Amino acid sequence: MDCMKALLGRRSVRHYLDRPVEMDKVIRALEAAHWAPSGKNNQPWRFVVICEMDIREELAKLTISGRIIREAPIAVAVFMDRDVSYHREKDLQAIGACIENMLLAFHCQGLGSVWLGEILKNKEKVEAILKVPASWEFVALVSAGYPASEGSSDRRPLEEVTIWR
Ligand SMILES: Cc1cc2nc3c(=O)[nH]c(=O)nc-3n(C[C@H](O)[C@H](O)[C@H](O)COP(=O)(O)O)c2cc1C
Repeated sequence: MDCMKALLGRRSVRHYLDRPVEMDKVIRALEAAHWAPSGKNNQPWRFVVICEMDIREELAKLTISGRIIREAPIAVAVFMDRDVSYHREKDLQAIGACIENMLLAFHCQGLGSVWLGEILKNKEKVEAILKVPASWEFVALVSAGYPASEGSSDRRPLEEVTIWR
């Protein structure tokens, strides 16, 4: 898919078909995420891919976006590894770039996805459910699957958010 078309066409998808997602597509999305830029190239992101319904159900109970986690066949939990972190703010910026790469890679492969942050209020519970190493700090969950309906969203005019000097 043309790069600008992908960037401008991606929308959060919150309704999914009951159709399994091919693992090679998930791996491609993880690869795209992993190729995000990071300060000092420290690659602070870590991933847990969740396919099992039982685990998704446990996570779903931790957020008002639970219906999405139940419906989407794939969830990817994204973490920051404190052991490699050198500057918290920059590392979280890098992980933001990594998540956007992941969303775009899903979109380019005909899948829909959504970045779920509301669940962050329960980050310790997510870390316990997923049994991650102690140095992994939960940052966000991405739900993904074949879209049942396209998302829609708008943006303010560019002039409102840009100053030229
Ligand atoms: C940091 C962050 C947290 C988000 N948390 C949630 C969430 O908990 N639930 C949800 O449905 N969408 C969540 N979203 C998706 C946003 O609502 C969405 O990106 C925004 O409304 C713009 O829509 P678009 O992605 O379709 O362009 C989150 C997005 C970001 C970047």
